[in-house]
Amino acid sequence: MTIANFRAVVMTLFPEMFPGPLGFSLAGKALADGKWSLETVDIRDFARDKHRTVDDTPFGGGAGMVMRPDVIDAAIDASWPHGPDGQRLGRLVYLTPRGRVLDQDMARALAVEPAVTVLCGRYEGVDQRVLDAWAPTEISLGDFVLSGGEAAAITLLDAVVRLLPGVVGKTESLEEESFERGLLEYPLYTRPAEWQGRQVPEVLLSGHHAKVANWRHEQSEEITRRRRPDLWARYVAAQNKEQEG
Ligand SMILES: C[S@@+](CC[C@H](N)C(=O)[O-])C[C@H]1O[C@@H](n2cnc3c(N)ncnc32)[C@H](O)[C@@H]1O
Repeated sequence: MTIANFRAVVMTLFPEMFPGPLGFSLAGKALADGKWSLETVDIRDFARDKHRTVDDTPFGGGAGMVMRPDVIDAAIDASWPHGPDGQRLGRLVYLTPRGRVLDQDMARALAVEPAVTVLCGRYEGVDQRVLDAWAPTEISLGDFVLSGGEAAAITLLDAVVRLLPGVVGKTESLEEESFERGLLEYPLYTRPAEWQGRQVPEVLLSGHHAKVANWRHEQSEEITRRRRPDLWARYVAAQNKEQEG
């Protein structure tokens, strides 16, 4: 068995949720092939009482429960792996709606690390002091509230694993994807060439590679401009900078 190049460690109250969707298709094959490894850590194993309590009521009152700092601290300390130099390996991530919103740049940054250790919150979240003590990278999936970090961890790892070397077969399919050049992907078509009276754009049937590439680029630009003014503004600024430099 080869040593996996990339280690993912997930701290959760629900280890049985893993690998879940990560056990299928691309990520699942890469996992089976040892291109990455996945360890789950049951946060409850770090509780200190016979009831295996991991949460308590919030100081100051209010609804819900908060994950205890002593339990989370012990879980992180035991789970975040060390490298050969004795330093902690890769990044510690806490998934939270308060984090920076996950994007392709962040997935790329995590994919070049040797490991990622992910803390999944439950209840109302984690006591602030343990976050201050460990200073994890805080990542959000977006401006909505999930009931726990596990679905976010699966999404994050899916995005990262497909960027690991050799996971996606043809490198072109990564290069052409949305966000790789700051644009959304162009529309895709396959057989049949006519479906329910709808035709595939003629240029795609022309066999003329330069024209196809040009059409796709224009479509990417148009879709990005219409749907994502934020991405479009960044793309235009980057283009202008390139032209100036
Ligand atoms: C019910 S949520 C807690 C929400 C928190 N009380 C708030 O208002 O920000 C429980 C856990 O789900 C995870 N979670 C919820 N929404 C998320 C999101 N958008 N991105 C990443 N993780 C999220 C976090 O780990 C969080 O600690």
